[in-house]
Amino acid sequence: MLCVKDLKKVYHLGQRVIEALKGVSFEIHKGEIFGLLGPNGAGKTTTVKIVCGLIEPDAGEIVIDGLNLRSERVRCLAKIGAVLEGSRNIHWRLTPWENLMLFGARRELPGHVRERRAEKLLAFFDLQEKKDVLVGNLSRGMQQKVALACALIGDPQLLLLDEPTLGLDVRSAESLKQRIRQLADEEGKAILLTTHQMELAEELCDRVAIIDEGRLLLCKPVSSLKEMFRQRCYVIRVRKSQSLTPWEQIPAQVQDQHSYWELRVQNSDEFFHTIRVLEGCQAEILSIDTESPSLKEIFLRVTNYERVPHTF
Ligand SMILES: Nc1ncnc2c1ncn2[C@@H]1O[C@H](COP(=O)(O)OP(=O)(O)O)[C@@H](O)[C@H]1O
Ligand SMILES: [Mg+2]
Repeated sequence: MLCVKDLKKVYHLGQRVIEALKGVSFEIHKGEIFGLLGPNGAGKTTTVKIVCGLIEPDAGEIVIDGLNLRSERVRCLAKIGAVLEGSRNIHWRLTPWENLMLFGARRELPGHVRERRAEKLLAFFDLQEKKDVLVGNLSRGMQQKVALACALIGDPQLLLLDEPTLGLDVRSAESLKQRIRQLADEEGKAILLTTHQMELAEELCDRVAIIDEGRLLLCKPVSSLKEMFRQRCYVIRVRKSQSLTPWEQIPAQVQDQHSYWELRVQNSDEFFHTIRVLEGCQAEILSIDTESPSLKEIFLRVTNYERVPHTF
């Protein structure tokens, strides 16, 4: 549905040259939620703005449903709905209904289609009772739902959501997440979502790409990312004893847990080394587990260059 090839973008800020994107490529398929994950300044918003035609890349290609954004701009943009970062995607001095009519008109939808879609979207987002209230008087959660409804009025196949739950309370974020999932599952939308909230990506995305300083560090399904790192994290529990102090010989993180020590090692070489040392000093090993790290831990490891496992 969306194919992004080798995007590059440089910003010039006075004397400063900022390489925001240094060759970013990925694909998103129909019905898939793809998360672009990265810290502030990683290049997420720049990527989204390029895909929805707001800024021009210095190099690279965007292909949407087989059409090149550069040569088929109007047809491409008709296939995209976007909610950009922040709360200014819609008009605060208009009501949800008026916003929907305006966005529908911009999409050149005939009046009756516009109204039918608007009714359906208001129902989908549970906004029927608020349709005539000024957007400025709605909660942030509802404003975000209105923004999403407006992005969907043209029935786009590709939805771009830049930090969609940022600044929302827990309940509104939950309700929005549920709608986003439904849009992918029930309507087959391809969804590009950016976030620096790892929990959001872990719960919602099918695949994620980790981006940092304008480069994609890796791109995987969430499940296989966790599986890949699961092998690397071993938890060994050792019964405490007075004579046991081999810590300087082993590369493990050690935690004191009252009656035992908990050792964490990150890969199989370190694991076997640790076991040998422990056996050498006749430690009593109580249990050995592999641990599935959270996406947040994976993210921290991957974005910390010194410690990137050499298999990348
Ligand atoms: N309009 C701009 N002018 C100059 N620099 C910019 C502009 N927009 C973004 N940047 C810089 O480009 C880099 C990537 O920014 P951005 O795409 O907004 O990252 P993210 O959304 O991941 O936080 C940052 O270093 C940012 O300061
Ligand atoms: Mg951003």
